[in-house]
Amino acid sequence: MKLIKTSTYEELSQMAAAQIISKIHANPSLKLGLATGSTPTGVYKRLIQDHGENKTTYKQVNTFNLDEYIEISKKDPNSYHYFMCENLFDHIDIPLEQTHIPDGTAKDLEEECKRYEQFIQDHGGIDLQILGIGQNGHIGFNEPGTSFSSRTHIINLSESTRKANSRFFKSLEDVPRQAITMGIASIMASKEIFLLVSGASKAEALARLVNGEVSESFPATVLNSHKNVTIFADKEASALL
Ligand code: GLP
Repeated sequence: MKLIKTSTYEELSQMAAAQIISKIHANPSLKLGLATGSTPTGVYKRLIQDHGENKTTYKQVNTFNLDEYIEISKKDPNSYHYFMCENLFDHIDIPLEQTHIPDGTAKDLEEECKRYEQFIQDHGGIDLQILGIGQNGHIGFNEPGTSFSSRTHIINLSESTRKANSRFFKSLEDVPRQAITMGIASIMASKEIFLLVSGASKAEALARLVNGEVSESFPATVLNSHKNVTIFADKEASALL
């Protein structure tokens, strides 16, 4: 794993965005895996800014999001569909039909998991996956204990994840209990991965990822066995390294 330490969150966002943009220039039909949460929003802002200033085009790009809550409508401001439109898709020239997110409102959720997994493979897999990390080491919504061989599946969210994400909801009660997430093996199949880690609240998680033993009890440690991972971490997040 390559580790890029930056002094600020702005620098982290700037550096990761610059690399993503140059990859899109090199391959205009890039298959780009996207993440939600607060951490990637700085990168998305810079992609939008660059699209405005330098006209980088997304007309041939396909995006694949990691996860989506179950039983939240796409129009709900807390859905990841809504999040992605607000934070990226509505501000660049990507055709909406080329943006792909699991459907947490599908009638048959097991079938939706299979469809999404197959759909990514039918597109030839993901070239570059953007990832954040949960304080408990989750990637996507793969909570501790998830099998490293998992593919897209339904997950019961841990109480700590629901609590951490409750800041976006009116109350903890409103946070969904389940989500659809790409599995660990689905994420590991990406050709390249950028992991974005920011803030003191992620310092322990990052230290455990870098120095701890590879274990399903801390899902992010699986990244140690991927051939092409770059971690972008700001000063607060890398404080324990
Ligand atoms: C959610 C998402 C993850 C994300 C994590 C951390 O649980 N499903 O993909 O990495 O939050 O989010 P944040 O960047 O807000 O700390």
